[in-house]
Amino acid sequence: MRKFYQFAFIILVILGLLASCSRDEKKYRIGVSQCSDDIWRDKQNSELQIGAYFHDNVELRFAVAFDSDERQIQQIDSLVGTGIDLLIVAPNQVSTISPAIDRAYDKGIPVIVFERKTNTKKYTAYMGADNYEMGHLMGEYVATRLNERGRIIEVMGLKGSSPAIERHNGFREAIAQHPGIQVVATLQGDWTEPTAYNTVKQWLDKNKGEKIDLVFGMNDRTAMGARKAFEEAGVALPLFCGIDGLPGENGGIRLVMDSLLDASYIYPTHGDQVLQLAVDILEGKPYEKETKLMSALVTQENARVLLMESEEIMRQSHNLEQLHEKASQYLDQLGNQRTLIFVALAAIFLLLALLVGIYMYYLQRARIQDERMQMEREQLDFYTQVSHELRTPLTLIQGPLDQLLRTNDFRTASDNARELFTIVRRNTQHLTGLINKMLDAQTGGTVTDVNAHVETQHLAPTESAENVKPDEDAPTVLIVDDNADIRIYLRSILQGQYRLLEAEDGKRGLELAREQVPDLIVSDVMMPVMNGLEFCQQVKKDDISCHIPVILLTARALEKHQIEGYESGADAYITKPFSPELLLARISNLLQSRHQLKDLWGMKSAAEPVEAPATVAAPAPTPIEDAFISRFKKIVEERLPDSNLSVEDLAADMGLSRVQLYRKVKALTGSTPVDLLRKARLAQAQKLLQESTLSVSEIAYKVGFASPSYFTKCYKDEFGTVPGEARKS
Ligand code: FRU
Repeated sequence: MRKFYQFAFIILVILGLLASCSRDEKKYRIGVSQCSDDIWRDKQNSELQIGAYFHDNVELRFAVAFDSDERQIQQIDSLVGTGIDLLIVAPNQVSTISPAIDRAYDKGIPVIVFERKTNTKKYTAYMGADNYEMGHLMGEYVATRLNERGRIIEVMGLKGSSPAIERHNGFREAIAQHPGIQVVATLQGDWTEPTAYNTVKQWLDKNKGEKIDLVFGMNDRTAMGARKAFEEAGVALPLFCGIDGLPGENGGIRLVMDSLLDASYIYPTHGDQVLQLAVDILEGKPYEKETKLMSALVTQENARVLLMESEEIMRQSHNLEQLHEKASQYLDQLGNQRTLIFVALAAIFLLLALLVGIYMYYLQRARIQDERMQMEREQLDFYTQVSHELRTPLTLIQGPLDQLLRTNDFRTASDNARELFTIVRRNTQHLTGLINKMLDAQTGGTVTDVNAHVETQHLAPTESAENVKPDEDAPTVLIVDDNADIRIYLRSILQGQYRLLEAEDGKRGLELAREQVPDLIVSDVMMPVMNGLEFCQQVKKDDISCHIPVILLTARALEKHQIEGYESGADAYITKPFSPELLLARISNLLQSRHQLKDLWGMKSAAEPVEAPATVAAPAPTPIEDAFISRFKKIVEERLPDSNLSVEDLAADMGLSRVQLYRKVKALTGSTPVDLLRKARLAQAQKLLQESTLSVSEIAYKVGFASPSYFTKCYKDEFGTVPGEARKS
């Protein structure tokens, strides 16, 4: 039982582990350190997030430095501290952020530098557009746009940031190729609109009246800041060019389309591509160390198309986001359902375990009960056996002693001898009482002493039956007992009144019962070969022996044993040690109460003496007995005309031996077969005398009499009149 519950517990733990394992997938934590917060960064961040949707084991941790070196350094260190697996960084300036990047890299964390550059070599991969080329192409465009002649202002990005440096270099080198283009001023900005506005406003204030043809702001916000300053100054507006070319309401493409800017340059964000690069690195897949992103110029000519395309892309991104939201809702539901299933499984399993446990408990209890009952049975058998062993010798002491006390010898014995005998007898009775008590205590059953009322009866001497021989017609009693002494003792009790047959076990008893058809059987119960119960059943089942009364004489004194005895068909049950008077009384009683069908042929006979009423009411004949008698009557009636018909012939017709037929018929009817045959003939004759015109002689021959004179004699004996009398009436 304990083992079973240990097993159930282990299964439960495994189930639990399975449930938690499937939820605890290895996650990639990716830190994203952005230098600024603006619409370009917003776009890039949301692309990174969309990229992450394709990998459900990626978790992004964002940090924004708001253009502050110190803050970005601090943020990178703390991202590393939270245990990120990879760092994506857009460094505010080239040199200032490098120490923090180095620290992350040295800790074994892969680093992707994105869009802005750093002066450290400690990074895993770089991805970004070519800012030099962008500046150069913008320089070429400006020269063409101004027809190689004009005055321009350049407003720079944040000092020390790599795009500002590279875009400036590219722009200036391109412009240098066009002598008609003159850079009137290079003003310092920081990528933000307010700074550009302020610095241009200051310049305009100082240089009133100066004609400017074009302002190149290093991003669209810078260009728009410059435009604001010009608009406020109320001077003729030059052309404005910027970089970024973002889609959306305030993006550069729209500004170009609305002619607020003359041109812009798409500065690619490509956050999803950056994310894929990060996952490839984390999963150990091959990747490019340096990736150059493509970009393109936005002018009045292509702005509309570009806007349409970029808005389409934005729309798709939006759909994608919604899809993701739905998917993650489903995933959440799925997760809940999975938890529910695991909980349900665990509950079912626990319930099953409980049921099995209860079942096993009951099984064990039933087994213990069986064992206890078996033990009790064995104990009872043992005590029954012991009591049997004790009761039989007790019977053989007490019985003969009683008999002795009743003899004439005892009457003449000395007072002393009689006293001693009385002591012996009292103590055998006491011993019987003790045995009964012992059996009572062991079984909790009831020991029924069916002989009790006779036990203390008359010690007065009676005449010994020893030398009295029964007459020929005395009933036959069959004694069945394996104990030779008991047989001798029973013989001594019964031989004066009954003719005796003896058998030492049930099997032999059955043979004798069938062959000799005794009038009564006295049988022991516990015997070898075939016990008394089985023997009694067989006797009662057999056509020939079924009518014979059976007395079971046994040491099995418990009430349940008596019930068993009666169930096997016994007519009486007497326990050892028994009183000889009781046995004799039972035998005579059973013989008297035997059912006898006296008047088989329905004759009214004057000669028949009136029967004294039986002391005990006779039981009704059993169906087997009825059937036997009917069969016998039929055969007799069929064969009665045959004057040579013998009892042997009748027995043969019945399938019996002469003795069997004689004894069976005698037992059932009280008459012999010869008597019955004669009575049948006379009954038939009486009928013919009354109903036919045949002569007396003819009738005599017809009913099987060899001579009419013998017929007349028999008729007179039976009916008290001569046949002629019957004719007269
Ligand atoms: C965004 C931004 C862009 C510019 C880029 C340069 O933060 O200022 O406008 O093109 O950074 O790194």
